[in-house]
This record gives sequence, C-alpha cells and structure tokens, in this order.
Amino acid sequence: MKRLEDKILAEGLALSETILKVDSFINHQVDPILMYEIGQDFADHFKNSGITKVLTIESSGIAPAVFTAMALNVPMIILKKQTSKILKDHILQTNITSFTKGTSYELTLSKDYVSDADTVLIIDDFLANGEAAMGAIRLAEAAGAKIAGVGILIEKAFQNGRQRIISAGYHVYSQARVSKLGKDIIEFTDAD
Ligand code: G4P
Repeated sequence: MKRLEDKILAEGLALSETILKVDSFINHQVDPILMYEIGQDFADHFKNSGITKVLTIESSGIAPAVFTAMALNVPMIILKKQTSKILKDHILQTNITSFTKGTSYELTLSKDYVSDADTVLIIDDFLANGEAAMGAIRLAEAAGAKIAGVGILIEKAFQNGRQRIISAGYHVYSQARVSKLGKDIIEFTDAD
C-alpha cells in the first residue's frame, strides 16, 4: 500500500537493524485518515472471504482493526493481554512470548464473541516472528472459527513471521513489507 510506505519513509525511524519506530502515526499518536484508508484497503483485499468478525490484539491493532471492521460492516473483537477480574468465565487463553520485548502474557478471548459460525480476519500492526498472530489464530480456532487470513500493516520481511503463518496454512496480506532497516535506511520488498 503506497500511502503507508510513503508515510513510513516520511515519519518512520529505524532505531536499529531490526526495530522501526512509527510512534507518530501508529503506536502512540494515531493518524485517523491513514487508519481509515488502511481499513478500506484491508476490506477491499478480504471482501470475498465471508468475514463475520475482525480480531485484533490490544493495543496498537485496535485503530486499524476498527476501521477495517467498519468497512466490512462486522464487529471487531479485542484479544486481551491483561487478565481481567471481570472476564474470567467462558474464556480461552494462550501464552504469547514476545521476542522483541522479552515479555510473555496470556492472550484472552471470551467464547461469547466468536463461535463456529464465524469466519475471522486477524489484524495487527507489526509482524515480526509471528508469535502474536499465531496466538490469535490458536484462540480463534479453539473457538471453532474459520480463519480468512491475517492482515498486517508493517511486516518485517527479514524475520520469520510470514513463513510461520504460511507454513501453518494461513493467508497473510501485509500492506508494507520492510526488507531492510539501518541508519537512514528503510527499504521495502514485494517479493515472497
Ligand atoms: P511477533 O508477535 O510477530 O512475534 O512480534 P514480537 O513478539 O517480536 O513483537 C512484540 C511487540 O513488539 C508487538 O507490540 C509488536 O507490534 C511490537 N514490534 C515488533 N517489532 C516492532 C518494530 O520494529 N517496531 C515497533 N514499533 N514495534 C514492533 P505489542 O507489545 O503488542 O504492543 P502494542 O500493540 O501494545 O503497541
């Protein structure tokens, strides 16, 4: 998606050869016009997949997921990272380990909102090693849902997330695929 690539080139900052800072439009401040366009693009890509729910992982996935859900005219569900005292019955959980942040957490979904009648689209901001996306897939499948695919804003194509998801048999669509990061370097790829 050229608009997202242009924004990354204009405002993204390669903090190292592996980390891209996009706090000014995705992770801290959010650009709502860009998020609207991102939602339209995901909805267009997945329009024939019979999606009934959009799933995302808190927190940075929420903005693009809600615009995608609006464009598809379906509900959006937030997979929770914090264990809630209120959300304790009728839940599914799976452990996620973040290699980027060196943390792990229990990702949680209430069975009240996803069932075997659903076909879900999973949206997230970054794809690195695919831990979060694979966890979201495990939860949706445990609830009995079909998986239409995984939609990612920024894929780090030099990490193995895409390969893991594809090897597990799922479709991945990334709007921007970063092939190289470094001092004053942000490069994109279209190649598989
Ligand atoms: P993975 O799920 O693909 O394996 O990714 P990983 O565990 O490595 O990433 C964990 C967190 O770090 C995620 O955010 C992810 O969005 C973020 N992340 C990974 N690589 C980058 C990067 O290059 N730049 C930025 N800005 N973030 C990155 P999270 O903990 O879920 O945070 P949030 O959604 O609450 O913002």
